[in-house]
Amino acid sequence: MAMLVEKPKHLCRDHILLRIRHDGGTAVPGQFVNIRTCKGTDPLLRRPFSIFNQEKDLLEVVVKVVGKGTEALQKTEPGEIDLLGPLGRGFSLPSKERVLIAGGGVGNAPLYYLGRELRARGNSLFYIYGTRSKDSIYLKNEYCDLFNDILFTTDDGTAGCKGSVSEAAKEIVHRERFSRIYSCGPTGMMKAMADLAGPIPVEVSVENYFGCGIGLCMGCNVETQKGMKRACIDGPVMDGSSIQWESLTARS
Ligand SMILES: Cc1cc2nc3c(=O)[nH]c(=O)nc-3n(C[C@H](O)[C@H](O)[C@H](O)COP(=O)(O)OP(=O)(O)OC[C@H]3O[C@@H](n4cnc5c(N)ncnc54)[C@H](O)[C@@H]3O)c2cc1C
Ligand code: FES
Repeated sequence: MAMLVEKPKHLCRDHILLRIRHDGGTAVPGQFVNIRTCKGTDPLLRRPFSIFNQEKDLLEVVVKVVGKGTEALQKTEPGEIDLLGPLGRGFSLPSKERVLIAGGGVGNAPLYYLGRELRARGNSLFYIYGTRSKDSIYLKNEYCDLFNDILFTTDDGTAGCKGSVSEAAKEIVHRERFSRIYSCGPTGMMKAMADLAGPIPVEVSVENYFGCGIGLCMGCNVETQKGMKRACIDGPVMDGSSIQWESLTARS
């Protein structure tokens, strides 16, 4: 059973934080939960959200309010909440490597929990936190405390470096050696990260449209070099070098 422990907390412009007690076991970073956003039938389908953090049975989820389901979630009162998960396949967790992690917008959310688990395994982390603008940066102190090196980028230059995550990443990859790259964010950004990775292993968490979230509807199909994959059960974390990017219904 899952319980929303307090009212959704406002983080920044259109982002909220849900804190949920759930006895579903320990999630691997990159896994998601599928939440029924209202008690009625509109929207009928559950909505997928990555796990921002987990501490024992307390799950935290960052939600960007974009439509009916997320608007309903924003108004949810503490108490029981209909949630399935953790679901899907998460990121790999090596030890003692130097890794680059790059997030864009709400795609930064699953990378926080990833960072925690990688730190616990003795990895050294460089993080690029990209957003459109300064007022879309959430939980800045938490990210700054966690990552060894961190760079902020904004499209409009109101915080950190002006420009895209992938432009910043290109420079960093040019001057430093990484054994692995992780990314989550807009489809174009993840494609650019996969392109610049070259021979470096690159894992991305795709956020295309999901229907059922449990492998039944084929609504989340992604073409890869190894054939068609269902992002909800074969992913959402996938090998970025294997994805046929044009097959993705893109979040921009
Ligand atoms: C594996 C996975 C993990 C995710 N993790 C998070 C997360 O941690 N935090 C978060 O805020 N969101 C996350 N998302 C996206 C989230 O599921 C959608 O934003 C949510 O379902 C929108 O529901 P809604 O009813 O509010 O919007 P709707 O009313 O369904 O749609 C509102 C608008 O958003 C667009 N939209 C909705 N979903 C998507 C999508 N998946 N891709 C592209 N455009 C979309 C619609 O086209 C429409 O324009 C994730 C998605 C996936 C697949
Ligand atoms: S969302 Fe239905 S099969 Fe993936």
